[in-house]
Amino acid sequence: MAERPEPVRDLDWDPARARTFVDGVADIYEDLLIRLPELPVIVDRGVGEVRAGVVVDVPDEPMPEVELLEYLRRMTFDHSALPGHPRFSAYVSGAGTVPGAAADLLASGINMNVGGWRLSPSATEIEMALTRWFAQRMFGMPGGSGGALTSGGALANLIALKVARDARAGWDVRADGIAAGPPLGFYLSSETHVVSDRAADMLGVGAANVRHVPVDDGYRMRIDELRAMVARDRDDGMRPVAAVANAGTVSTGAVDDLDAIADVCRDEGMWLHVDAAYGGPAVLADDLRPLFAGIERADSIAFDPHKWLYTPLPGGCVLVRDMELMRHAFDPDHVAYIVKDEEHTDWGIDLSRYSPNFSRGFWALKVWISLLAHGRDAYARRISHDAALARYLGAVVDERADFELMTPVGLSIACFRYVPANLPGPGADGREEYLDRLNQRIMTSIQLGGRAYCSNAVLGGRFCLRSCIVNFRTEADDLDALVEVAAELGAALDAELRPPEL
Ligand SMILES: Cc1ncc(COP(=O)(O)O)c(C=O)c1O
Repeated sequence: MAERPEPVRDLDWDPARARTFVDGVADIYEDLLIRLPELPVIVDRGVGEVRAGVVVDVPDEPMPEVELLEYLRRMTFDHSALPGHPRFSAYVSGAGTVPGAAADLLASGINMNVGGWRLSPSATEIEMALTRWFAQRMFGMPGGSGGALTSGGALANLIALKVARDARAGWDVRADGIAAGPPLGFYLSSETHVVSDRAADMLGVGAANVRHVPVDDGYRMRIDELRAMVARDRDDGMRPVAAVANAGTVSTGAVDDLDAIADVCRDEGMWLHVDAAYGGPAVLADDLRPLFAGIERADSIAFDPHKWLYTPLPGGCVLVRDMELMRHAFDPDHVAYIVKDEEHTDWGIDLSRYSPNFSRGFWALKVWISLLAHGRDAYARRISHDAALARYLGAVVDERADFELMTPVGLSIACFRYVPANLPGPGADGREEYLDRLNQRIMTSIQLGGRAYCSNAVLGGRFCLRSCIVNFRTEADDLDALVEVAAELGAALDAELRPPEL
């Protein structure tokens, strides 16, 4: 007789135990929210110390729950960077909405697999409704547009450019490979985020066929150069396939002339992709929306809820004008181990057919719940406020004798540098190199100090400090504090580093 295995229940916590543990985690989260403004943005500990503090060998026996919670508390408060801190304004790193964090718990708790409809009926329909809302209501794309959530902007751009390649190459690249036709050209601006170069690489386009179109004084793609490059490449036997326009560059928040690039794409039969990973949500704000005129003409858009919709990582989004093209780019002909009985079921579409991911988490829940909990108007107000704060920061540094605003504020990004008031004026030998070195050290000291946190940009070859406000906790006081910290560190470092000839 077959031996019947006895139940093994070690991994299955009963509801009361689950509740107690989740309560313990919620206590840590509440503490974090209470203490956030008083905590350092980051604690300066080196890799050895952090590793010693957080890495624990996997034990053979369960770690007791009190110990586990203590471990989580230590990791949270002693060894984490805090991008949701009011004084964090670096990179393009959202703060993380509270409803989004709670939604993530439930999404993991239900654990639907949003690759297949039957495993995730509500999740699939929510993700599709959400991406349709983004495409059609937020960006003004036509019916038939929609998309999918991704891990972030890198994957959103990759997916969009894969759809572009397959739709516009002129032969069946999926079947015959990239070498079966002329070289395919992608047109980026020199300010485009590196993930588009990486996408071109992964799609087999080759760096030699990626053009970096020069920008104007406002860091916007030059349309005359784009037209000239496309014409030259056509003459040389290349097939121009896609232009990547920026709707919020990572360095300065520049928004390209989307209408003009859409005209070029229309005239040349090219795909228009818009990298709106950072800037996209600004279309919700009445005062910023006009900058994005023409975005509704895009064939695809990448935009990241985990940036300026403030929702927790990971959560990017790719939108396409024609969902069928997205399916064509990813749908496997036949998967023997997944058979769907269309005759006896009434199921919707499987999102695994529309993207490179097969299993997919319920990433949409945190985004959807955040939008429902806050409402569109609160988003519009806060996004507009972030941009106003960046303009305030720009004006503050512009008015001071010891700072220089490096370019007009774009969206919610201010780029500036510390310039000691008594430094010889522009043109002095070694001045610019010294300012690069000095500001690099200022940034590092700011980041190590924990009182504020900004990052950098390099503009026209010059190093500058950069604040990007996609943090709903940041206010004018926090930006005043950043400037004061930078000025204090700048003066001290200048006294230490200034070469005698200056
Ligand atoms: C304009 C732009 N595109 C793409 C990306 C990459 O997005 P992610 O980091 O979510 O992959 C970024 C990141 O900052 C960005 O600012």
